[in-house]
Amino acid sequence: MTGGGPAGPVSVTAAEAEGDERAIEAALRPRTLDEVVGQARVREQLGLVLEAARRRGRAPDHVLLSGPPGLGKTTLAMIIASEMSAPLRLTSGPAITHAGDLAAILSGLNEGDVLFIDEIHRMSRPAEEMLYLAMEDFRVDVIIGKGPGATAIPIEIPPFTLVGATTRAGLLPGPLRDRFGFTGHLEFYEPHELDLIVHRSAGLLGVRLTDEGAAEIASRSRGTPRIANRLLRRVRDYAQVRADGVVSLDVAHRTLELYEVDELGLDRLDKAVIDVLCRRFGGGPVGVSTLAVAVGEERETVEEVAEPFLVRMGFLARTPRGRVATRAAWDHLGLAVPADPTGRDDTDGAGTLFDT
Ligand SMILES: Nc1ncnc2c1ncn2[C@@H]1O[C@H](COP(=O)(O)OP(=O)(O)OP(=O)(O)O)[C@@H](O)[C@H]1O
Ligand SMILES: [Mg+2]
Repeated sequence: MTGGGPAGPVSVTAAEAEGDERAIEAALRPRTLDEVVGQARVREQLGLVLEAARRRGRAPDHVLLSGPPGLGKTTLAMIIASEMSAPLRLTSGPAITHAGDLAAILSGLNEGDVLFIDEIHRMSRPAEEMLYLAMEDFRVDVIIGKGPGATAIPIEIPPFTLVGATTRAGLLPGPLRDRFGFTGHLEFYEPHELDLIVHRSAGLLGVRLTDEGAAEIASRSRGTPRIANRLLRRVRDYAQVRADGVVSLDVAHRTLELYEVDELGLDRLDKAVIDVLCRRFGGGPVGVSTLAVAVGEERETVEEVAEPFLVRMGFLARTPRGRVATRAAWDHLGLAVPADPTGRDDTDGAGTLFDT
């Protein structure tokens, strides 16, 4: 993720993974496409791309995976490699600061390898340009020397599959985006899908839980499997320490209350954004940079993490003049919707609202 992360203790509903959570996540990751819950469309599309490549005996087209944190991009990248029985090479945009870093990685690839570049939108510009060529022609030009005497030495690289992950597909330059043969957009999960994920994880972790307990966790997980798995672990702690070890509705309730998890799963940042939007800016419209400063976060974090979920929940609308709070946001904060000249009463995402 980009951004500096929230100040102070990390809330249990933060969408990003923290510290040792990575290890626990590895144990809970689905290993095959069939094990993946939800994302039916992406799963089918990707399944077709992989099956066709397998039948032709070729490396599949390059794949771009985009979507908010914690929805399964890394998981799918690993699945692509394992479904192709190919080794996975892992790196990330911020780790590639010079084109030379990328040249070293690319020239070390073997035929059919899957190269996963996480946060691909954060790669340096020269590296991006090198990547275009590698993706299209399976070649890199290594520049030797400087100035007029510099020469480009082309190096062939074996056919490989690039899998890029990004929380911001919009930030990728067009030429890079166009070189992916397939882009999968991951969506927030429905409660019944998260319910399946909670049951699955409970099985893997050996947690006993009731259907009602699972449903309660699922409905407060902010549409995000990572959060569902984290809440499950917190609820399990509670069940072990303060109850009989079984995650029941009551135990789930009490735990989620203890950790102040919103009944809709909104996290600290989500709440801060609508709070500031309504209380300080009268519901907007206000620019996203201003909003970010007001909540003490980086613009990217507000745009990539909070906004997609708030839009999805119908709390926030994007208009040409800025972000506006919807009636649902005022209601959620328990505030009266101001009867007011901007006419925000009917802000239901219509982009033309403030056009003149
Ligand atoms: N479709 C799914 N079914 C079951 N579990 C899932 C699914 N998607 C994600 N998960 C679980 O959620 C966790 C987070 O997923 P993952 O690391 O793939 O997210 P990500 O999109 O790469 O996030 P980030 O943007 O932070 O890198 C994983 O440990 C995995 O167990
Ligand atoms: Mg990831």
